[in-house]
Amino acid sequence: MKYKQLGDTGVEVPAVGIGTWEIGGGISPDTSKDGEGIRAVRKGVELGMTLIDTAEKYADGHAEEVVGEAIRPFSRSDLFIVSKVWPDHLKYDEVLKAAERSLGRLGIDCLDLYLVHHPNPEIPLEETMAAMEELVRQGKTRYIGVSNFDVAQVTEAAGCLKNNRITVNQVPYNLMQRDIEKELLPYCVENHITVMAYWPLSRGEMVKDEFLAGIGKKYGKTAAQAAVNWLISHENVITMPKAVNPEHIEQNAGAADWELRDEDLELISSRFQ
Ligand SMILES: NC(=O)c1ccc[n+]([C@@H]2O[C@H](COP(=O)([O-])OP(=O)(O)OC[C@H]3O[C@@H](n4cnc5c(N)ncnc54)[C@H](OP(=O)(O)O)[C@@H]3O)[C@@H](O)[C@H]2O)c1
Repeated sequence: MKYKQLGDTGVEVPAVGIGTWEIGGGISPDTSKDGEGIRAVRKGVELGMTLIDTAEKYADGHAEEVVGEAIRPFSRSDLFIVSKVWPDHLKYDEVLKAAERSLGRLGIDCLDLYLVHHPNPEIPLEETMAAMEELVRQGKTRYIGVSNFDVAQVTEAAGCLKNNRITVNQVPYNLMQRDIEKELLPYCVENHITVMAYWPLSRGEMVKDEFLAGIGKKYGKTAAQAAVNWLISHENVITMPKAVNPEHIEQNAGAADWELRDEDLELISSRFQ
């Protein structure tokens, strides 16, 4: 597994982690596939994808419960666990309560990273970020960050912080959605903010692409692996595809321990711009 520094923290995290949207259900909980979800997360961790991305919103909390069960056999210090607070809970006390609920469902004492899932213009960001800093002070999360924030919003969030930095902005980024390359990605590089790319496979669309399959073949890799490798070739980008199919999990874990050559990175970039 390839590792990258998280923001400017000095902490190294896997370039490819595990996504958990639709593990434990979709918008609401569905316990019928808990076994599959638990096996998927465990297999991913065993293969080196020790960063797990979840959120209170996923399956209305049940994704966190499935992750909590999945991580029980592992040493906590080997994992990097990320969760997110939903925009309905961005008032000061609500942030603190939401984090407690997430910790309870995950069965852990401290998150590695806690993100504001989406901005909420109804609630002053200063109030939300003060609560995020309070969680760090209380030892409930090691690092804080944001998700779905544009440059102006990240700048505002960073300006609200007194003792911490924004370490991550989690945003959609894949070969079919490259908007962030104009402003947000350069801004994050300059400010030492790690970009966590979500929808790395365009929710599965990317894997059917013949051109990518052709490039991947040169390295004995699949289209999905080429798409993920292209993403993490950007210096401050990490990602977390979601997969329950064991073959997909193996491919995703094997998407990071090799590098597309410059000429192939360029071919891919120009094909999908
Ligand atoms: N912050 C946010 O607002 C936000 C929004 C969306 C997502 N996210 C996070 O980002 C994660 C990733 O996004 P996503 O789950 O929506 O989409 P995704 O990872 O782009 O795609 C997931 C789909 O791709 C399939 N897949 C995975 N690996 C594959 C492979 N190697 N070959 C072929 N197919 C493969 C999966 O199938 P199987 O499951 O059948 O294996 C699943 O259908 C989420 O799980 C979540 O943690 C965050």
